[in-house]
Amino acid sequence: MKKVLVVYYTQTGQLQSAVKSTLASFEKENVSIDYLHIKPKKAYPYPWSYMEFFDIFPETVHGTPTELEPFSINQEINYDLVVIAYQPWFLSICVPINSFLQTEEAKKILKGKSVVTILACRNMWLNGQEKMKLHLKNLQANLVGNITFVDKAANLVSLVTVLAFVLGGKKENFLGIFPKYGVSDKDLQELAPKFGNILLKHLKINDYTGQQQELVEAGAVNIKSNLLLMEGRGRDLFPLYANYISKKGTAGSADRRTRVRIFGIVLPTAILLLSPIITIISRLAPVLFPQKIKKQVDYYSQNSLR
Ligand SMILES: Cc1cc2nc3c(=O)[nH]c(=O)nc-3n(C[C@H](O)[C@H](O)[C@H](O)COP(=O)(O)O)c2cc1C
Repeated sequence: MKKVLVVYYTQTGQLQSAVKSTLASFEKENVSIDYLHIKPKKAYPYPWSYMEFFDIFPETVHGTPTELEPFSINQEINYDLVVIAYQPWFLSICVPINSFLQTEEAKKILKGKSVVTILACRNMWLNGQEKMKLHLKNLQANLVGNITFVDKAANLVSLVTVLAFVLGGKKENFLGIFPKYGVSDKDLQELAPKFGNILLKHLKINDYTGQQQELVEAGAVNIKSNLLLMEGRGRDLFPLYANYISKKGTAGSADRRTRVRIFGIVLPTAILLLSPIITIISRLAPVLFPQKIKKQVDYYSQNSLR
């Protein structure tokens, strides 16, 4: 019997549904799955207040761990595969999973293991996954697959709906005109089982050669050139702004409130203004620099770290 450990964090359940839909066929095929839900000692609020949401930015970008509720992993079980399911937060790994990756338990359980990552997010996951690749490399784990579920609406539409969702607690029909935020039911019902079957096939033979390519062909990796360019800006600028805020104080401190508030205005405004410009550039880029864009898409579609 094959044994799989799923380590995940979810706040509102979207990622959990994505994982369950992906792995639905496993149990029928006599694969045992242990789920480990990582929970921070102090749960994050949902919906988030404006200040809480933007105040978590510096620590998320810096990868500062938070205290987790105690958990245990049976070290006696030799898992055939570990699935790490996480959301990107501010183009980085969400704090709970990032904290898990820094524990002694993670060190022990991940060493030498084959790992598949599953993400369910808005649409910007490239940089978070680069950070994940680095963690896994340091933990001597082998990343053998990556599956991403995204909100496929236009970038500015999902910018509005994600903010309505995380800050307003409203997932559907925002202002009566916006579509539902998040991963579509169609992707969960139609695509997730296909991804799961690919994972299952490779798990059974314990050979992951070609797995990522099959996942990519099945539509498991969502990369758009406009978002690739946007993330590039964010990747360069976010650490600078995170430093600017944390210089003033630690998480939640009153001293940094003004800077957090400015960031909360600057970030959505920058996305709003940059998005149309970058979309135009990204339409031209594949025509002007086809090799460059293709190279980037190919790089982010696979699992090694440059
Ligand atoms: C603090 C915070 C930051 C986020 N940043 C990003 C991001 O950079 N990229 C992205 O695609 N989604 C981002 N999201 C959306 C999440 O990836 C995810 O869709 C949402 O938290 C719901 O996931 P859950 O239902 O599994 O909890 C962010 C959400 C939160 C709460």
